[in-house]
Amino acid sequence: MILTVTPNPSLDRTYEVPRLERGAVLRAGADRVDPGGKGVNVSRAVAAAGHRTVAVLPVGGPEGALLLRLLHEYGIEAAGLPVGGSTRVNVAVAEPDGTLTKVNAAGPLLTADEAETLIQSVRSRSADADWIACCGSLPRGLAPEWYAELVARTHAAGARIALDTSGPALTAALRERPDVVKPNAEELAQAVGRPLATVGDAVAAAGELRALGARAVLASLGADGQLLVDASGTYFGTARVPAVRSNVGAGDASLAGFLIAGGTGPEALASALAHGAAAVQLPGSAMPTPSDLDPAAVTVTGDVPLDRALTEPVP
Ligand SMILES: Nc1ncnc2c1ncn2[C@@H]1O[C@H](COP(=O)(O)OP(=O)(O)OP(=O)(O)O)[C@@H](O)[C@H]1O
Ligand SMILES: [Mg+2]
Repeated sequence: MILTVTPNPSLDRTYEVPRLERGAVLRAGADRVDPGGKGVNVSRAVAAAGHRTVAVLPVGGPEGALLLRLLHEYGIEAAGLPVGGSTRVNVAVAEPDGTLTKVNAAGPLLTADEAETLIQSVRSRSADADWIACCGSLPRGLAPEWYAELVARTHAAGARIALDTSGPALTAALRERPDVVKPNAEELAQAVGRPLATVGDAVAAAGELRALGARAVLASLGADGQLLVDASGTYFGTARVPAVRSNVGAGDASLAGFLIAGGTGPEALASALAHGAAAVQLPGSAMPTPSDLDPAAVTVTGDVPLDRALTEPVP
């Protein structure tokens, strides 16, 4: 079972409009609402892959109740922690040419009691979890050290932790030795304070995160593929993608693929790549099912092309 933690989940509402025009009253055609948040996405991908997942998340107000209902419809067990504030609603405006304009809400302010209860709620469910995936930004009221504390206290209960966050929340948690961290190229560059121009730069940066405490680093490099640096070695992989439809949630699908394949070594990296590649070929944040995967399109090697220039370098 993969337990996910989403401290700042959302209801993602998408309106389709003919054209986005500032200052105008826009009439939406279709509109849809999806459960959102990075950990929720990982749970959706794990469930789509046919594995058991439990999503731990704070929920508040009628928006929170709707979020729980949608998760249930997706076949995801949700452990909702009732909070005083209301779950946020993020709004996306989609135009026919594929342009997506997003307004993300801040989300509720969590009290110190709610922050503590959330950690306890994760701990109490960690016994039958193969992995705990802690994902996304922290809501207001949670200190940047909150993930660090969560890692320390759930590690003590024997669970393995995957962490996908950025900035000070990531940096602070490294010293508690998360089992794997999953930065994208931008988050990796930010964590080490250097630009990334080549695969070798990403390998060096991943090594630095390991020196700071991460046991393994799964770095996703967008169209350039993925890198896994752990105690057993360094592996690099790519996956052929005929046509990209939407990269929204591709990183979350990758992390899910990595964890359901065991969360360690080159085979898990190959699964991460297969899931990322499948996700970008699906619309919106749709998550791949096993029939969407094309393992033959994936190549993983221990012979890392260190000099290869990134097609999407981070300045
Ligand atoms: N343009 C692309 N072409 C081919 N594969 C892609 C592309 N974008 C993403 N992928 C695949 O998906 C994986 C994850 O993508 P990316 O590095 O963009 O994650 P991310 O920024 O964490 O995404 P998010 O947080 O939005 O889920 C990549 O490593 C790659 O396997
Ligand atoms: Mg990501």
